[in-house]
Order: sequence, then C-alpha cells, then structure tokens
Amino acid sequence: MRLDKYLRDCGYGTRSEIRKAVRSGHITLNGSIVRNPAEILDPGTDTVEVDGQTLKYTEYVYFMLNKPAGYITANKGNVPTVMDLVPEPYLNLFPVGRLDKDTEGLLLITNDGPLGHRLLSPRYHAEKEYYVEVDRMPSAEQLEEIRKGGLRFAEETFAPAEVRDVQDCHCRIILTEGKYHEVKRIFLALGCKVTYLKRIRMKDLILDETLEPGTYRRLTEDEISGLYA
Ligand code: URA
Repeated sequence: MRLDKYLRDCGYGTRSEIRKAVRSGHITLNGSIVRNPAEILDPGTDTVEVDGQTLKYTEYVYFMLNKPAGYITANKGNVPTVMDLVPEPYLNLFPVGRLDKDTEGLLLITNDGPLGHRLLSPRYHAEKEYYVEVDRMPSAEQLEEIRKGGLRFAEETFAPAEVRDVQDCHCRIILTEGKYHEVKRIFLALGCKVTYLKRIRMKDLILDETLEPGTYRRLTEDEISGLYA
C-alpha cells in the first residue's frame, strides 16, 4: 500500500496536508524519515509515525452522523448530500441505509461493506428505532395493526413493528425492515401524517444526543462490536 493511502485511511488529513507532512519530514517509516508519498509499505508489519506518534492502521472507519434535515442520503448530487458533512479524506465512505431528506438523526457512515450489508439485509432483521411526530395518533386498535404487521400502502405490505411510548402526537417505532418511506407509509396507511421523523437507534447503536445536527464522531470499539454482534 502507498504511504499516502495509508495516511488517508488513518484519517490523517486531506491529500494536500498529507503530501505536505510527508515532504516536510514529519513522517517516519520504521524509524527513518520518508519524503515520498508514494512509498510502498505493508500495513501489517511496518510502523509509521507522525512526529514520533505511532499510527494504528484500521482498514475500516466508522462514523456516527447526526443527520440534519435538508440533506439527501447519497454519495454525490447537485443538492446537499450527507457526504458534504464528512471531510475530504473520508470521501471513500458511504452511508448505511437511507434517511429521507427531511428525516434527522442517526446515520452510520463507513467503508465496511460487509457490515453495511448485514445491517441492511432483510435476513438479519436489524432493528431501526425512530422517534415520530404525527398530526394525529392512530387509535389503540390501529396501533395494534402496526404491531401485528400486514398493513398495506401503495402495493407494499409492512412487517410487524413495535410501537412504544405513545403520547398524543408522538411515539417511537421499531422497524426490522427498511422499505421506502416505511415509517411515513405505515402511518399514512392509517390516515395519519408524519410531521417529524428522527432515527435514534440502529441495532445497539444509539444516537449520541450530544452531537449537534450536522456533526459526527467516530464509533467506539464497543459500538463497533455491538453492530457485529
Ligand atoms: N422511514 C421513513 O418514512 N423515512 C425515513 O427517512 C426512514 C424511515
């Protein structure tokens, strides 16, 4: 692997920052200063230091983004995308699953394809929990229909979903599948309109409410293993 790619995977900085750091002698490879960004190294056995600090190479990186409304979940587009919120060295990442433009909350952004597949594959039934505000809360009987499953909207049939903390105009809903506009359509099937939607959990990964909308942080080791469990 090239040194500049290694540094990028470690999240060291932008391409130009990396080139500058290497050329100005801040980087050592196995103890010797290396000034060529294209130098080849083996991440398994070689040691890279930046100003004397050893880097830990990880093939995969994982970010939790608190998605704000107004951004589409896509890698690129003419309108603002969630990837505009992630700094340049991480543009090889992708969002796991889609949130609508007006939906806020937890979005996992990673380059770990196998994990992304597990979280999205219907075979694994990974739970996704949402906080939902509606113009009118469905009746108790209608909420039972959501829990039982089999509700239909626009040719689509929805699997059972848990509904919790039901209040006059808001509740939480837990899905185990990820169909297009699923939460909004479940409520629409009952004549209710979702007025605000925020994802608060995906499997064991809980939205860090200290993250301001539009900001992100790396996942901890525990959070990553929780997603694999
Ligand atoms: N369900 C929806 O209707 N929208 C989302 O963004 C996510 C789930």
